[in-house]
Amino acid sequence: MTLISQELLESDYSLFKEYLVSECGIVLGDNKQYLVRSRLLPLLRQFEIDSYTNLISRVVKSRDSSLNNAVIDAMTTNETLWFRDGHPFEVLKADIFPKLQNKRTPVRIWCAACSSGQEPYSIAMSLLEYKTQNASAFSGGVEIIGTDISNNMLDQCRRATYDNLSLSRGLSNERLERFFEPAEVGAKNESRQLKREVTRMVSFRSMNLFDSYAALGSFDLIFCRNVLIYFSIDGKKRILQQIASSLQSGGTLFLGASESLSGISNDFDMNRSGQGIFYVKKQ
Ligand SMILES: C[S@@+](CC[C@H](N)C(=O)[O-])C[C@H]1O[C@@H](n2cnc3c(N)ncnc32)[C@H](O)[C@@H]1O
Repeated sequence: MTLISQELLESDYSLFKEYLVSECGIVLGDNKQYLVRSRLLPLLRQFEIDSYTNLISRVVKSRDSSLNNAVIDAMTTNETLWFRDGHPFEVLKADIFPKLQNKRTPVRIWCAACSSGQEPYSIAMSLLEYKTQNASAFSGGVEIIGTDISNNMLDQCRRATYDNLSLSRGLSNERLERFFEPAEVGAKNESRQLKREVTRMVSFRSMNLFDSYAALGSFDLIFCRNVLIYFSIDGKKRILQQIASSLQSGGTLFLGASESLSGISNDFDMNRSGQGIFYVKKQ
């Protein structure tokens, strides 16, 4: 199939921007044509579409869910790493786990926008490390749920196999030794598999943060990090309102290092512990 045109018309760019906001809340700036072109180019080939105009027209009409999923996958930024920013995981051990460890019912933790799994699995590893020091902690059980809009990312989460590059980002040798094992033959070169001890603590499901959270139930702790930055103020407000409703009173929320609730939500009190910041839902 030959491409008729590699041009991205201004009118198609505007249409695509509207589609992206309505579909997943992501706001593209005015001059991000190059980003759209480079991310959608592989899809022109994959779906044998001869121009951006035809691709965008098909996507906007939402007639082909596999194309629409591929477009969302292509337009999301999935940057993540193990124990990202360090401090939240120190706060977990110093402040949050001690408060939750004696709960009789399962402690419920939600990692919203979990990308390829490093964040929910880092929470699970922190919990296992905490239990090494506090053997009777969490006898009521723990349930960690990771969600993301990207099906590709969720597939990676479930595979729980990571290559050397991703393993080199944020993992100490000690954790690498303790929590990983060689991947099965046939898996990507030099990759390692997370041990079952960790993976069995986390389940994954597909979820758009702009849909209802009601089916997820209520949580003691929510991580929603490095995703609000892609949304409009109104989008952030809608999400924070739902997050507040999904947290128990006194429950804890972690945001990304560059994110804050200022001007977005009054439902939380900001707390500091060491160099970490966390938000507690008001009673
Ligand atoms: C930059 S990653 C952040 C990953 C992780 N939370 C961290 O801090 O390392 C952002 C993730 O948000 C997801 N995402 C973007 N828009 C979303 C939406 N509307 N609903 C759910 N997830 C979304 C992307 O697929 C991506 O995996």
